[in-house]
Amino acid sequence: MKILILGGNGMLGPWAVRAMKDRHEILLTDINEPHPNYKGDYLQLSVSDVDGVIKAAEGMDVIVNLSVLRPHRQLAFDVNTMGNYAMMVAAREHGIKRVVNSGPHYQMAGEQYENWDFDLNPDMPPAAGTRLYAHTKALGQEVCRVFSQRHGIQVITLLYYNMKHSWDLSGMEPGGPQYHQDMIPYSTAWPDCGTAVQAAVEVPENRLATRCETFFVFPDLPHGKFNNEKIKRVLGWKPRYQVEGLWNKEFRTPPDNLHGAF
Ligand SMILES: NC(=O)c1ccc[n+]([C@@H]2O[C@H](COP(=O)([O-])OP(=O)(O)OC[C@H]3O[C@@H](n4cnc5c(N)ncnc54)[C@H](O)[C@@H]3O)[C@@H](O)[C@H]2O)c1
Repeated sequence: MKILILGGNGMLGPWAVRAMKDRHEILLTDINEPHPNYKGDYLQLSVSDVDGVIKAAEGMDVIVNLSVLRPHRQLAFDVNTMGNYAMMVAAREHGIKRVVNSGPHYQMAGEQYENWDFDLNPDMPPAAGTRLYAHTKALGQEVCRVFSQRHGIQVITLLYYNMKHSWDLSGMEPGGPQYHQDMIPYSTAWPDCGTAVQAAVEVPENRLATRCETFFVFPDLPHGKFNNEKIKRVLGWKPRYQVEGLWNKEFRTPPDNLHGAF
């Protein structure tokens, strides 16, 4: 298949490319210059450039949006919300049947759920809360939902918590919450984050209950805070790096840099 990736030059992009590059034709795009390690087709493109996204999407089978901007109010809206608008307009214009959207768990399972509940699943009523990142991403997801309903475009939304190196699922977030010294709960290893994108791109249509489906991308979590049953059952995604292996210090790969994934 021909895949257009938006915002693909960040942390997740290289892992999505690694998972898919031998199986699909990829056009990687981002607002930045390409990383020197990247050898495939590349286009410098902002997701807020609707005409540019439409042009780039010509002839594509799937669009994957990995773009995100977290801190600045206007930019977060332009990227996290309007980026999905550009993606959906492009899909509509070219009759592209599937898009893969991405974001953090709390664009759906915001504080009310996360602080007080457990067994959270991706089909709960969305409650993003007011945090800028979550809120703008939730609006972007809503844009996808409306286009999906009106134009029959299949939307698969992948929601992650933390993404980490497999040997460093324990790594503390600089300035972030201090959990147990040994692990950040709910972390997904980078290679598994990438294969989730691949699974979303490739899942046969008849496995999807509706045209707009959301998935939590987490390894198995013994405490049952988040439920990953749906992504395993529907997308057939199997995380390689589970919490048990982390606990047993099983993953000892020497660090390389993130863009080594290309
Ligand atoms: N990294 C994590 O731990 C994490 C956790 C949960 C969810 N996610 C989600 O995963 C996806 C990928 O995140 P990431 O970690 O790779 O983020 P990242 O910040 O590393 O990469 C985002 C990319 O978006 C690009 N971008 C910003 N503005 C753009 C614009 N106007 N046009 C085009 N591209 C633009 C950036 O240049 C960057 O390359 C996002 O949807 C994010 O919400 C990430």
